[in-house]
Amino acid sequence: MEKFIIEHSGALKGRVRISGSKNSVLPIIAATLLTDEVCIMHDVPKLTDVLIMQNIIEDLGAKTIWNEEKLSIEVGDIKKTQVAYELCSKMRASFLVAGPILARCGEVKISLPGGCAIGSRPVDLHLKGLVALGAEISQEHGYIHARAKKLEGANIYLDFPSVGATENIMMAATLAEGQTIIQNAAVEPEIVDLSNFLSSMGAQIRGSGTDTIKITGVNRLRGTSHNIIPDRIEAGTFMCAAAVTGGDVFLENVVIDHLKPAIAKLREMGIEINEGFDDGIHIKGSLDRLPIDIKTLPYPGFPTDMQAQFLSLLAVTPGTNIVTETVFENRFMHVPELIRMGADIKIDSRSAVIEGVAKLAGTQVRASDLRAGAALVIAALAAAGTTEIHDIYHIDRGYYRFDEKLRALGAIIHRKTS
Ligand code: EPZ
Repeated sequence: MEKFIIEHSGALKGRVRISGSKNSVLPIIAATLLTDEVCIMHDVPKLTDVLIMQNIIEDLGAKTIWNEEKLSIEVGDIKKTQVAYELCSKMRASFLVAGPILARCGEVKISLPGGCAIGSRPVDLHLKGLVALGAEISQEHGYIHARAKKLEGANIYLDFPSVGATENIMMAATLAEGQTIIQNAAVEPEIVDLSNFLSSMGAQIRGSGTDTIKITGVNRLRGTSHNIIPDRIEAGTFMCAAAVTGGDVFLENVVIDHLKPAIAKLREMGIEINEGFDDGIHIKGSLDRLPIDIKTLPYPGFPTDMQAQFLSLLAVTPGTNIVTETVFENRFMHVPELIRMGADIKIDSRSAVIEGVAKLAGTQVRASDLRAGAALVIAALAAAGTTEIHDIYHIDRGYYRFDEKLRALGAIIHRKTS
């Protein structure tokens, strides 16, 4: 097992290039199952989660070729419709292959995703959509078995604007007979990126990025080439790292529009952010910050995936800060670890009250999930002394060359086998 050893680091300085978005490339890899032609994706981060998704589609018959951060995928023939348990049980996002396999083969058998550290994370809205499209679904021994000779377009209302459900339904609907309307759809940038990818394959989609998406089915989809959008959550993570160390950092390869909630909240704290550049953003951290309140919401609200990282920043921001997590039921797993570093945080169901302290103290801590792990790195950079972060495989799932990029900015961070 590997761990990070992080020393108190001074102000981060320099330029960092943000990688392609994990939460965009995962559904897009699933979407390559919808055609027998070659799909090429550029700026693909070689993350653990991406490699798991690659293994899942290879097990189904896909051929894949990496060339640095360019990934080519050809699913000439889907050789089976049962998704390997030992692969899809590793990552919830593997459920995103259900819609494409069903649409292309008329059948799919896939294990229900387990819960994870941040919540139960059911897939009832995914299944509601597939049933509406005409799938017959049975569930036994932890597997979902869905069959449909031909999917038929339908009107589907999502009780919650689920990102994954919107993606699964949208992909399945591209090959259904007739029109599908998804209401109360998720509007995250990753939905729009997936929609752009599908449209470049010949899908007929209108309204992605709004809460009503209309898809008119077509007979077949063709191969394409696509540039993955930058990872807004990685960008927000580096913004927090710059802020907490009083640094001066330029982030290359960002979409400013996708960072509005993070920019707004950092400016509220008194942090200087300059966004007058073509594809970058300049952030000047400050050690005297103002307290703020944060409430996570579906996009364009403040992203739940940035909550943990900001909470670490607020732990050393003087005053009373309140963070409310409305999207997941258990996304404060980083808090007990921060308290062990000296943070003053009280949890009251979905809210955390954070009394900023002058300084945290380094110690041994454990990552519980991807974003909690990133939050501990941010805390460790500003903490006094040395921090050891265990179970960093969680971090490697979603941050490409994270320690390398931080070291290039002056962070004192090293990876060691524990
Ligand atoms: C995506 O997960 C992201 N993952 C998550 O990022 C992100 O936190 C989440 O969207 C919210 O923005 C990927 O894109 C691969 P949801 P997803 O369906 O699709 C409930 C990270 O850190 N729900 O929008 O699973 C669910 O329980 C990861 O990169 C249902 O009740 O999120 C949760 O409370 C973590 N029934 C809420 O909706 C369903 O059928 C949001 O889930 C589906 C979801």
